[in-house]
Amino acid sequence: MGSRFDKGRWSTFIDTEPVVVAKREVCPAGARIQFVNERRYLSVIKKDRSAIIIAASSDIGTAICNRWKSNGWDVYGTYRTKSQAIEELNTLGVKLVHCDLSNFTSISDACSNLRKICPQWDVLVMCPGTQNPVGPFNECSFDEWEKSVRVNFTSQIRIIHELLPSRHVGFALGPCVLLFAGGGTNNAPVNYSAYIISKIALIKMCELLDAEISDTRFVIIGPGWVKTKIHNSTLKAGARAGTNYQRTTKKLASDGCTPMDRVLDCCDWVADASRELIGGRNLSVVFDMWGTEELAKILAENSNVYKLRRYGNDWLIKNEH
Ligand SMILES: NC(=O)c1ccc[n+]([C@@H]2O[C@H](COP(=O)([O-])OP(=O)(O)OC[C@H]3O[C@@H](n4cnc5c(N)ncnc54)[C@H](OP(=O)(O)O)[C@@H]3O)[C@@H](O)[C@H]2O)c1
Repeated sequence: MGSRFDKGRWSTFIDTEPVVVAKREVCPAGARIQFVNERRYLSVIKKDRSAIIIAASSDIGTAICNRWKSNGWDVYGTYRTKSQAIEELNTLGVKLVHCDLSNFTSISDACSNLRKICPQWDVLVMCPGTQNPVGPFNECSFDEWEKSVRVNFTSQIRIIHELLPSRHVGFALGPCVLLFAGGGTNNAPVNYSAYIISKIALIKMCELLDAEISDTRFVIIGPGWVKTKIHNSTLKAGARAGTNYQRTTKKLASDGCTPMDRVLDCCDWVADASRELIGGRNLSVVFDMWGTEELAKILAENSNVYKLRRYGNDWLIKNEH
């Protein structure tokens, strides 16, 4: 199954052979796509897409809702806490349901409600996140620690599991699941173990899902430091955050944070990128040259780039069998 451009519109087709249409090669969902007439193609696919934003109440999630709604997409989502931002999204026509990721019944109800109001989605974005509990592992309440792993990791995967059956596979690029990474990929930040281990688990899960489900694009992006309310946990924790308290206050007071528009541009790029480029990868909004031909070439040639791998494998190798 795939998509075909014919007489000015895209339609689903059943045959498996790639078809050349409007100077663009279209392949079955999930297969390699060649970008030939980018502008024309994007002007077609940007319309009529449906996106679900889990934790649309997050500062990044709210910004994504606003951008994609103004692009003409149908946007749905969840919130935990009612706020002015949620009221404004409602007014814009973003359809929202309540969801507390620490509660299984709430998740199940939310997914069932989302399936009713959005029977097919093209992009699913996971924005929940909490840095709590902040502090050394052995001083944290383990119940709090475990709850954090649920909100930051397992509940997000539970939602993906519940919503995957309603993904829209007729679209040429294939549906896209977009997650957010945090720190800890190349070092060991202290005092945030529940948050960091969850983010690392999300990165690996993204790669595993990509390997198992070939009709869908799974990608996880690290936004860098963005001025959002997620940092309030660190500010509140004070000394328990260790040196990250000073680092956070300094960073938030500086001009060195990632502008929200940059995060949104990366999300836009991801939503339109082929599985070959983004599938199973962890991209950095700040450091990676996403959107360039140079990076596209490297990604197309090497499926290990931007994945979790052991470092230094090729030194001092034992010659035992
Ligand atoms: N901002 C950064 O510097 C940064 C850096 C790296 C990664 N990220 C990631 O980016 C994503 C978006 O975060 P953000 O920066 O926009 O922060 P944010 O505004 O604090 O958003 C976090 C969201 O998670 C929600 N949440 C927390 N616990 C929940 C629960 N039990 N049930 C349901 N929702 C819950 C919060 O809901 P409430 O509104 O109800 O509190 C909030 O909407 C997160 O995954 C975060 O880890 C952000």
